[in-house]
Amino acid sequence: MDQLKSDWLGRIGAASDETTLEDLRVAALGKKGDISLRMRDLGGMSPEERQVAGPALNALKDEVTTAIAAKKAALGDAALDERLRAEWLDVTLPARHRRQGTIHPVSQVTEEVTAIFADMGFAVAEGPQIETDWYNFDALNIPGHHPARAEMDTFYTHRAPGDDRPPHVLRTHTSPVQIRYMEAHGAPTRVIAPGRVYRADYDQTHTPMFHQVEGLAIDRDISMANLKWVLESFFSAYFGTNVRTRFRASHFPFTEPSAEVDIQCSWEGGTVKVGEGNDWLEVLGSGMVHPKVLQAGGIDPSEWQGFAFGMGIDRIAMLKYGIPDLRAFFDSDLRWLRHYGFSALQMPAVHAGV
Ligand code: PHE
Repeated sequence: MDQLKSDWLGRIGAASDETTLEDLRVAALGKKGDISLRMRDLGGMSPEERQVAGPALNALKDEVTTAIAAKKAALGDAALDERLRAEWLDVTLPARHRRQGTIHPVSQVTEEVTAIFADMGFAVAEGPQIETDWYNFDALNIPGHHPARAEMDTFYTHRAPGDDRPPHVLRTHTSPVQIRYMEAHGAPTRVIAPGRVYRADYDQTHTPMFHQVEGLAIDRDISMANLKWVLESFFSAYFGTNVRTRFRASHFPFTEPSAEVDIQCSWEGGTVKVGEGNDWLEVLGSGMVHPKVLQAGGIDPSEWQGFAFGMGIDRIAMLKYGIPDLRAFFDSDLRWLRHYGFSALQMPAVHAGV
């Protein structure tokens, strides 16, 4: 009996995992286990024999049961220790950075516009937002007394007392970049100039700062037909659908003839859809560059001619992305951007992971 006991206790002590231990339990105490079978044999013994073997077997059974339970607990602790060691997590590490920012619709649309005109061979230029009177008005054939200067509700900068020079202006349109670009590059030329412009205006469709993109193409035989083709190609690419344009005779001091351009749209169902329906929406001013403007830019109008246009970027961003109020561009937060589907900027992660 002692041999049997040390045999079982030895095997239990040596069990290295819970499966081996369970196998031992079945082999010893299961229905057909060694100790169970021995207990069943008690029935065939003489009362004297049974009196000795019975208590001894019961004691053995208890000891083996206790040993298995103790070993099981020990193995469980070891398994937990091992997991704790393997799955250790350093909660003091800095959190992985999550990108929250999104590209602003106006920035995205400026990029889209630039890419489409680049495909048509237009370079990109920028000019200063604080302009001189000359570039913003005079060079564009807008003389001092011209109503356009008042109409545009221009923001003027202050001059020091006693300084009689005309004040600088926050440019009221991107057209001054026409002059700067002509001066710098001469003819022939093809360029667009996106950027910020300023007028004292504030309501649902006007903000004091907004964005325009200027277009200028000069060559020996550029015509209004080229202008129409370029604009229709642009709008179709930008809106991803065939867009018809309508030219309405208009007046700008810096173009002759001048036209305001509408794009085809529908208002059915209360939302505007570009490229279908029978309505028209004004999106830009345009025309053939006035000879005086070419001259101001240092280009000989007897040799060169060209078209120019100025388009509202915020306006076409609203149209493409269904944004109803211009002011939302300036006072909205990330939830608003996500609502219109502008997703987080794709930038390399700071923590690239290990
Ligand atoms: N500068 C004009 C405006 O801001 C638009 C325009 C640009 C018109 C070029 C004709 C040619 O309204």
